[in-house]
Amino acid sequence: MLSDIVEVLACPLCGADLTAADDALGCLAGHSFDIARHGYASLLPGDAHTGTADTQAMTDSRGAFLGAGHFAPVAEAVTDAVSRTVGEASGCVVDVGAGTGYYLAQVLDHLPGHTGLALDISKFAMRRAARAHPRMGAAVCDAWRTLPVRSGSAAAVLNIFAPRNAAEFQRILRPGGVLISVTPTAKHLQELIEPLGLLRVDEDKAQRLEDQLGSRFERVSSTGVEGVTTLSHEDVSAVASMGPSAWHTDGATLQVRISALEEPVEVTFSVTVGTYKVKAGDDSTPTAGS
Ligand SMILES: C[S@@+](CC[C@H](N)C(=O)[O-])C[C@H]1O[C@@H](n2cnc3c(N)ncnc32)[C@H](O)[C@@H]1O
Ligand SMILES: [Zn+2]
Repeated sequence: MLSDIVEVLACPLCGADLTAADDALGCLAGHSFDIARHGYASLLPGDAHTGTADTQAMTDSRGAFLGAGHFAPVAEAVTDAVSRTVGEASGCVVDVGAGTGYYLAQVLDHLPGHTGLALDISKFAMRRAARAHPRMGAAVCDAWRTLPVRSGSAAAVLNIFAPRNAAEFQRILRPGGVLISVTPTAKHLQELIEPLGLLRVDEDKAQRLEDQLGSRFERVSSTGVEGVTTLSHEDVSAVASMGPSAWHTDGATLQVRISALEEPVEVTFSVTVGTYKVKAGDDSTPTAGS
């Protein structure tokens, strides 16, 4: 619940601590933010651009697909990576671009002393995340702006197929905290790419990850997670509709293409789970609001 994680929240406008009062959160400077009746906080600045937010339909597809367990080995690898490295018996795990909260909920199941904060720009995703786990709070925010999280307050940051703001990850991590990132390899969903016209994972993905994180973080370990999952047409529709390709292909065209596939379809999932720590001696931590 939100009340479990208010102690790590900061005002997205001025960086001051947020505290809860009735159905709102506020800071000492007088900035106030609603808590939606669905249980998540709305911490988006008024001028935010929400065009990249997952829609209700994308969120429903994501909920159905992940809930069926097709990416369970990925969740296990994320949980292992956090459990191995997080150290202290308590703290907050912050998932940036958390979607429905599927991965964070599993991490929390394995860390009974920890709380979780799901952040995403999609209110539909945060509706689900707000009830994904009893120790999880959820807030709508923009990952490209100052995160609404106090400096040095996160035991771990998760970043799974989602926007990657390295400066902010560094700022919110406590000393010794870890960043766990999940990125797809070129083989991810490869059997569906041609027939459905899905977006390809760009060849330079690994290099881009290094470029984004390399100046602030060093990689501690990296694990490949790969397997084959058997999908019905309905599953294929869900996985194609929950990701970035949903922005580029209309639903009717997608359904025609899916109906031409054999059923069931064997589909590869292939991701890299990376564990990172802030580089030793890096004192470039910006202050909140900068
Ligand atoms: C591919 S989904 C991954 C969701 C989740 N991590 C998962 O793997 O199930 C990308 C997520 O990033 C969110 N997102 C897109 N732009 C964002 C932004 N500027 N700030 C925060 N979240 C954003 C979307 O709403 C979506 O939930
Ligand atoms: Zn404020």
